[in-house]
Amino acid sequence: PHSAKRVTVTGAAGQICYSLLFRLAKGDVFGPDQPVILQLLEIPQALPAVRGVVMELEDCAFPLLAGVVVTDDPAVAFRDTDAAFLIGARPRSKGMERRDLLLANAEIFKVQGQALDKAARREARVIVVGNPANTNAAILAANAPGFPTENITAMLRLDHNRALSQFAAKAGVPVGSLDRVAVWGNHSPTMFPDWRFATANGKSLPDLIGDGDWYKSKLIPTVAQRGTAVIEARGASSAASAANAAIDHMRDWFQGTNGRWVSMGVPSDGSYGIPKGLICGVPVTCTPGQYHRVTGLPIDEFARSMLDRTIGELKEELAAIAKS
Ligand code: NAI
Repeated sequence: PHSAKRVTVTGAAGQICYSLLFRLAKGDVFGPDQPVILQLLEIPQALPAVRGVVMELEDCAFPLLAGVVVTDDPAVAFRDTDAAFLIGARPRSKGMERRDLLLANAEIFKVQGQALDKAARREARVIVVGNPANTNAAILAANAPGFPTENITAMLRLDHNRALSQFAAKAGVPVGSLDRVAVWGNHSPTMFPDWRFATANGKSLPDLIGDGDWYKSKLIPTVAQRGTAVIEARGASSAASAANAAIDHMRDWFQGTNGRWVSMGVPSDGSYGIPKGLICGVPVTCTPGQYHRVTGLPIDEFARSMLDRTIGELKEELAAIAKS
């Protein structure tokens, strides 16, 4: 039997975690032979609610759940961790400006970056889900100088999965037949779902759909506004689908994608005109434990304008924090 993997999860009392934790404990990230110890971080007021979730985890009698730690101390939550899901973040409250939201979250991710730096295993893989996810991940990395920056990522997978479903429905093909879809940029309405290289059963998806107008006037706004549409319909933000995307991201990173493209927010290496220091959605493939940027893709005029817009937003978010 394998020794247990330690998995840090923040925001454990929140709605995404109410789905995520059960799937983690069931083995959906590391597979059916890998026990896990969950290290759950919350703010002090939310610890009683976390204990309720832990009672339910116990009541599932998951064979792979080797232990649960509940804490409000980041140093405890990140101790010896192998994988970290950073879900907890400060939501926008009434009257709060965008800049205040950025600053409140920068403070949270600064503290957590320092704890990661001190306490986590250097091999740990980190996904930031809490919004603004890309910028929070950049702040985390900046505050963890002794931790490998390439192991810090942000979640674009929900946008990627949303695009996959829309493409599959339009083309009338199963989702599993699609490959080489990319979502570039910030996890925000500026992200750029790129179908230029996409295939269905190995054939060009744009050729199969044959409707460039649909792509620009319907697909891109639908994916960009999907979060808002879910809030309007459900009265609450995407939770199960966000948890699913986080599971997909980490499972693929730990287990590999067999050549299939997925989208991840990764620290820029300067390619595609994305400045270093940003954590930006790009297409990658994964082999177990490693992501590999898809390199050398041509960027046409439309793609350039879409990329520049979302990169510009990422730069502004970081600049707003740097100014404070
Ligand atoms: P939620 O409000 O239900 O839960 C968030 C939890 O985080 C709360 O229980 C809160 O007490 C906790 N928290 C706040 N500050 C914390 C800190 N410093 N340390 C530990 N825990 C802390 O929110 P939900 O629905 O679970 O969403 C979580 C985050 O994920 C939000 O920021 C949301 O905007 C973001 N999100 C990101 C997506 C993406 O695609 N990147 C998709 C969907 C949501």
